Amino acid sequence: MGSSDPRLVLLGRQGAGKGTQSTRLAEHYGVMHVSTGDMFRTQAAQGTAFGLEAKRYMDAGELVPDEIVVGVIEESMVPGGPLGGGFVLDGFPRTLHQARELDRVISGDPLDLVIDLDVPREIVFDRIAGRRVCESCQRVYHVNLPPEKDWTCDTCGGDVRQRDDDTEEAVERRLELYERETVPIVQYYRALGLLILVDGVGEGDEVFERLVKVCVEQLS
Ligand code: AP5
Ligand code: MG
Repeated sequence: MGSSDPRLVLLGRQGAGKGTQSTRLAEHYGVMHVSTGDMFRTQAAQGTAFGLEAKRYMDAGELVPDEIVVGVIEESMVPGGPLGGGFVLDGFPRTLHQARELDRVISGDPLDLVIDLDVPREIVFDRIAGRRVCESCQRVYHVNLPPEKDWTCDTCGGDVRQRDDDTEEAVERRLELYERETVPIVQYYRALGLLILVDGVGEGDEVFERLVKVCVEQLS
């Protein structure tokens, strides 16, 4: 691998497994997992003004405005900050404006690879319907793979519950916005020669192996 601390972006539609796989990839490479959705949910659970503002957009399935999102990321990415080294970005960028702003913020040390985790629309509905998430640490579960006891998080002991934006209506809207706002980013990164498509269908372990394989191939 060229860099010991890879700088990766994971794209993919809602329910594709970005959160699940980014957590594993970040652990595997010993880098930060950065999910803007997790940041917003944590702030909302703490009841901060910022979190509650973001939650209004999230619960309706709308995107949080670019200026808010970019501000949050920019703070984390200043040299010497928590994201000064390697990272796996999950759920950011998701508009062309955000992608360009990310380039600007990290201009001295660009991305290594952008992975488009591909899962068809029919499959993500089932995954989202069964998803449960820890309110405290945001660890992702599924009704078919629950925590060991009583919907209490195995990692932190927090309450594991359904996300407020996993309603049928909000999911439809999120998927619509994905096609409109996020798919153009795929072309943007393809033109930069950074994009690789990975099949996200199959067992979680199998998908993880595919991801590590492309990282090894592409980052060497
Ligand atoms: P965010 O939290 O990023 O949600 P999302 O994009 O809607 O994506 P999801 O978290 O729904 O899916 P995922 O791909 O992470 O799947 P997961 O691993 O959980 O954003 C939420 C909201 O915040 C946005 O709608 C927006 O309002 C706001 N926001 C965030 N970032 C923003 C930004 N940059 N700009 C503007 N607004 C922003 O997996 C899903 C389920 O499937 C789980 O139950 C999991 O256990 C299961 N699963 C995973 N892998 C497999 C597998 N291989 N086989 C079977 N099941 C699997
Ligand atoms: Mg997620």
